[in-house]
Amino acid sequence: MSTRPSPRLLHRRLLASVIACAFIATGARGQVTATLDVDVSKPGPVIPDTFFGLMTEEINYSYDGGLYAELIQNRTFQDPGPRGAGGTPIHWSVVGPGKVTVDDAGPVNPALPLSLRLELTGAEAGVANDGFWGIPVRPDTTYAVTFYAKASDGFAPPITASIRTDAGDAIVAKAQTEQVTGAWRKYTLTLKTGRDAPATAKARFVLSASGTGSVSFSYVSLFPPTYRGAPNGLRPDLMELLAGLKPKFVRFPGGNYVEGNRFSDRYNWKQMIGPPDQRPGHMGCWGYRSSDGMGVPEFLLWCKQLDAEPVLGVFAGYVLNGDHFKAGTPEMALYTREALEQIEYIAGPADSEWGRRRAAEGFPEPFKLRYVEIGNEDWFDRSGSYDGRFAQMAKAIRERYPHLQIIASAPVKSFKPDLYDDHFYRSARQFLQMTSHYDPRPAGAPQLTFHAGSWSGRQPDGVKTFVGEWATQEGSPTPTLNAALADAAFLLGMERNADAVTMQAYAPLLANVNPPDPAKGYPKGWQWHTNLIGYDALRSFGSPSYHAQAMLAQNKGDVVLTTKLDVSPPGTVARQGAIGVGAWRTLSEYTDITVSAPAGQQLFAADLSKDASAWSVTGGDWKIQDGAIRPAAGDRESWAIIGDPTWTDYTIRLRARKLAGREGFLVLWHAVDGDNYHWWNVGGWDNSLARAEVSDGGDRHSYGPRAPFKVEVGRWYDVRVEVTGRRMRGFIDDKLVTDSACDRAPAAPAVVATATLDKATQTVIVKVVNAGRFPVDAAVNVRGAGRLDSTARAVVLAGPPKAVNTVDEPRKVAPQEEVVQGVSTAFRRTFPPHSLTVLRIKQAQR
Ligand code: AHR
Repeated sequence: MSTRPSPRLLHRRLLASVIACAFIATGARGQVTATLDVDVSKPGPVIPDTFFGLMTEEINYSYDGGLYAELIQNRTFQDPGPRGAGGTPIHWSVVGPGKVTVDDAGPVNPALPLSLRLELTGAEAGVANDGFWGIPVRPDTTYAVTFYAKASDGFAPPITASIRTDAGDAIVAKAQTEQVTGAWRKYTLTLKTGRDAPATAKARFVLSASGTGSVSFSYVSLFPPTYRGAPNGLRPDLMELLAGLKPKFVRFPGGNYVEGNRFSDRYNWKQMIGPPDQRPGHMGCWGYRSSDGMGVPEFLLWCKQLDAEPVLGVFAGYVLNGDHFKAGTPEMALYTREALEQIEYIAGPADSEWGRRRAAEGFPEPFKLRYVEIGNEDWFDRSGSYDGRFAQMAKAIRERYPHLQIIASAPVKSFKPDLYDDHFYRSARQFLQMTSHYDPRPAGAPQLTFHAGSWSGRQPDGVKTFVGEWATQEGSPTPTLNAALADAAFLLGMERNADAVTMQAYAPLLANVNPPDPAKGYPKGWQWHTNLIGYDALRSFGSPSYHAQAMLAQNKGDVVLTTKLDVSPPGTVARQGAIGVGAWRTLSEYTDITVSAPAGQQLFAADLSKDASAWSVTGGDWKIQDGAIRPAAGDRESWAIIGDPTWTDYTIRLRARKLAGREGFLVLWHAVDGDNYHWWNVGGWDNSLARAEVSDGGDRHSYGPRAPFKVEVGRWYDVRVEVTGRRMRGFIDDKLVTDSACDRAPAAPAVVATATLDKATQTVIVKVVNAGRFPVDAAVNVRGAGRLDSTARAVVLAGPPKAVNTVDEPRKVAPQEEVVQGVSTAFRRTFPPHSLTVLRIKQAQR
C-alpha cells in the first residue's frame, strides 16, 4: 500500500502549517514584514500543568560531580581508572612521606569493601582527593566532613582534615578529630573557610596525621552547603537554575541509565536507598561508576524541593547490550514485583512495607505519583520482546494502582498505554521544520509510523504523547543560540498541541563541562554532545536553550489561543552575498582575487599584503603568506569569506595552487555567512570531480553536473566563476568546466508564533521565534480581548546565532526585559534577527 499523501491532503497540510508557522525567505534587502493575528475569543487546548518537566539520568557527571553535592570523587576507592604513584586509587594521592595501600580486609560494611591504609613514618603525611576536577573553595563557607577511620600498629594521634589550594598548598580550612581508635568509627568534622579565602576550584581535600603506625580510611565524604541545607543534598546553584525552568515533573532515572550496559549494572533501586554509606554503588552506562549517593530518596528530595512530581522509569528486563528476559520468565516476575515495590516506596502510605522505608528516610508523606514509564527506548530491543515485557508489567501495575498512567517507550500491541514516550535529537533545521509535527491529523491522513524513537504525529484514541527526550544538536557541550531558537520553535509547536503532547522534557539536562586532564588520565566531564546546563566544580550556567525554555516555562499560560501568522514577501528567493575561498583537508593558496560586475567594472580586489583579519573564517584560521591567502592548517575543512553581502551578479577571478592534501579548491559566492553560501568544489570527492554545492544553514547539498577534475599539486590554475542569478559557470584556465543552476530555495529563516492566555492575570502571552537573519516587522492584532493595557512587558533572547554561554561567560546570551509602550489591539513590533520574544499583554480592567 502506498503511504504517499494525496494532493488534497498535501494542500490541507500546507494550510495547517502556514497557520502554525511560516517558513519564509527574505527579500533582496532583507525586509520581512508579517501580520500576526491572535484571537482570544477562540481558545484552543488547555496546557496541562505537567507540560514542562525535566529528564534526568547519571550522564555527563550529572549527579556525581554535578547535582549531588558530594565533593569527593571515588569516596569508596572502587572507581576504575589508572592508579596513582604508589598504587593510590584514581583521584587519590599521597601527601608527605606516607605509604598507601588499598586494603580489602575487615571492611566497615559489605557496601564499602575497600579501605585506604596509610602508613606513617613520624612526619606529617596524608591522602588527598582532587574532587571532580577540583574541590571548590569559596570564602566564608562551611563544609561537612564524614569518614570512617581506624588505627593500627600503635597509631594514636588525631586526624586532620583540611582543604588546601593547589597554589602554594595553602590550607584554607582545617579541623581535627579526637584520637583515633583501633575499631572502625565514623568521624564527622566541620571545616570553615575564612572571609579572605579565594574562590577557586584548584584545591584538594586532605586527611593527614603525624606519628607512627597506620591509619585506615573508608567512605570519605565532603559536602559544601546544600540546597536548603538538606543532608546528603543537592548543589544550590544548579537547583536555582532548575527552579528557573519551573518543572512540574522529573523523569528519573533515565534514559539509558535505567537499563545499564549489562544485567549486573542495571538500575537496581533497592541498592539506592538507605544510608549512603550502605549503598554499594555501581558501574553506570556512560563510562564511569556511580556512587549512588544520589539514589531514590535524593530523587524524592529533588522533586520535593522543586515542587515537581516524580515520573518514574522502571527497569523492564532489557539492558543496553541487548540481553533481555521474555515475558513470563522468573526474572520478569522479579522485575515486575520490584517495580510495584518501587511505586509503593514512592507513593505508598507510611505504614506500608516500602512506604515505611521511605518515611524512615525523611519523607513520611507519600509522593503524588501519576506516571510510570516501563523501560526506556525499548525500540532498540530488536528481538520484539518489549510488547510482552510491557504488557506483563503494565497489567500488574494497572491491577495494583489503577489510577497510574502508564507510558510505553516503544510501539506495543498487547496492552494500550496511556502515553507514548517520543524522543527526538535533531538539527536546528529539522526542528524548525517540525513545528507542526503534532498538529491534528486530517481525516484520511496516512497511518502513524514509528521510526528511530518517535511516532510520525499525534496518537489516536485518546493516547497522549510524552516527548520525554528532545534537543537540537548544535553546540558542544552546550547548545548555541541557533539551537535554542530551533528548540523554542519545536516547543511552541508542542505547546500549541498540548491536548496531544501533555508532557515534554529536554535531554540531557546537566553536563560537567570540565575538559580532559591527560596528565592525570581524567576524561572530559561530558559524554553527550549537546546538553542544557553546564558547570564545573565552582561555576554554572544556563545555555541559550536553557534560557529559551525558562522563558517559555515562566510564560506558559493556561490555554492556547488561535494564532495566524502571515509573512511577506513569501517565498522570495535571496540571491546575493559575498565571496570566499576554502579548503577541504587540503593546503591550497589563492591570490589575485577580484570581483567584477557583469558590465566589467571592478567591485573588489583582495588586499593580500597584510593579515587575514578582514576575512571572516569558519572551521579554522586562515593566513596571508607571500601574497596569497591559505588555511593555517591543511588538515581541516575551513573557508574564509570577504566582500559585500548585497552583491548579486558578478564574476570572481583568482589564481589557485594546491600545495598538499586530499582535494583541491573551494570558491564561494552568494556567501551570507559561514553556514549559508554556494561553492564551486574543484577537486572534491577525493580530488575526482568539480561540482557546485549549496549550504543552507550548514546543511550542504551538491547540485548540477559532475565534471571529472583532478587538481595537480604545485600548479597555478586560473579560476573564474561567473554568477548570474541562480546560475554559475566555472572556468579553469578559461575553459568551461561546470555550468549549473541551483533549483533549491536558499535557507528559509523560520518565524514561528503562538499565543496563550494566563487566566489568573488576564494576560495574553505572545511568543515569537525569529530564527532568521533579518528583523521581522510585524503588525500584531489581538482580537476578542477587549481593551488592552497600553504598556506590555517583553522578554527577548537574541544574539549571534553561533553564540554560546560558558563558565567564563555565563550570561553572554541571556534574556533581556523591556517595557513596551503603545500596545493596543493593533500595534507594530519588530522581532530582531535570531531572537525569541515573549510579550505579556494585559487585558485592561473594565
Ligand atoms: O539523553 C541521552 C540518551 O539518549 C538517553 O540516555 C537515551 O534514552 C537516549 O538515547
